Order: sequence, then structure tokens, then C-alpha cells
Amino acid sequence: MKKNVLPVIMFLFLAPVILHAQTKKPISPKPKAAPVSKAVMDRGKEVYLMNCLACHQADGSGVPNLNPHLVKTKWVLGSKTVLVEQILKGSQGKVEIDGETFNNAMPPLPQLTDQQIADVLTYVRNSFSNKASVVSAGEVKSIRAKIK
Ligand code: HEC
Repeated sequence: MKKNVLPVIMFLFLAPVILHAQTKKPISPKPKAAPVSKAVMDRGKEVYLMNCLACHQADGSGVPNLNPHLVKTKWVLGSKTVLVEQILKGSQGKVEIDGETFNNAMPPLPQLTDQQIADVLTYVRNSFSNKASVVSAGEVKSIRAKIK
């Protein structure tokens, strides 16, 4: 009889450890960016066609030496603040992207509403092979408030 005591003690000791290990949730994979709703993409595309197409082209490929492309640039995929400011304030002078130089001016587009800017930037950040988080109207609003 005495021989059986050890395994029983071992079991009692290990059971909580084993059970705990089994119920532990598997490490969840890196969260993917939530898919952007079609409604937002459609609205963003409309703003793009009206306000950006002429310079950056329908496929975001830009115009050599003049208007930079919008494919995976540090502006498009990077800081939302810098990106929103690019729309609100425009910019000019030489800009170099991937060894190519562009020299033209982008006009400021402050007449676009917070929602329009949010939608167009969400569209750009999720088109032309780009994949980045959505921009919300609230974010545009607070960035706009700071630069006024
Ligand atoms: C009149 C032409 C013109 C229009 C219209 C225009 N852009 Fe631009 N855009 C430019 C030029 C030129 C630059 C580079 C400016 C510089 O040299 O500083 C630029 C730069 C950018 C950049 C940063 C550089 C890059 O390639 O990532 C982004 C992002 C951008 N534009 C997005 C937009 C969006 C979105 C719209 C529409 C809401 C828009 N632009 C409208 C000409 C234009």
C-alpha cells in the first residue's frame, strides 16, 4: 500500500500545474490591421479622384520628376500627424523618395473636411499595395486644431 502513496502525492502536486498549462490560452498571433469597411474605401476613393488624382494618378504612381508616388512611402505608411499635415499645409521643394527626386508643389487642401481627409488617407493607406491603420475624423480634427 505504501508504494502507491508517492504517485498519488505527485499527482496531487502536479495536477494543478498540468491543468493550468492545458487551459492556458495559446499565444494569439500578432493582431492584423482590421479590414477597412468598403463604405470608407468608397468615400475615400471619391475624395481621391476629386483632389489627388491629377497629380498622384489613379494608381498612386505619381508623375516622374514632378509628383511623388504614394506607394509605401514613409509619409503614406508613417506618422498620421505628418500625413495629415501634408494635406492641410501642402509642401514644396525637392523631395527624394527611393533615389528619385520630385520637384513640384503640393497645394494645401484645408477646405477638405476632417471626414474627407480621414477617408482619403485611409483609402491611400490601404490602396496601391499599402497596408496601414485607418485615420479617423477625430484624429484629423485634433491635428488640425494644433496647427491653426
Ligand atoms: C497639384 C498636385 C498635387 C495634388 C492635387 C496633390 N498632391 Fe500630394 N504631392 C504633390 C507633390 C508635388 C508632392 C511633393 C511635395 C514636395 O516636394 O514637398 C506631394 C506629396 C505628397 C505626399 C508625401 C510624399 C509621398 O509621396 O508620400 C503625400 C502622402 C501626398 N502628396 C498625398 C496627397 C493626397 C492624399 C492628395 C489629395 C488629397 C494630394 N496629395 C494632392 C502634388 C500634389
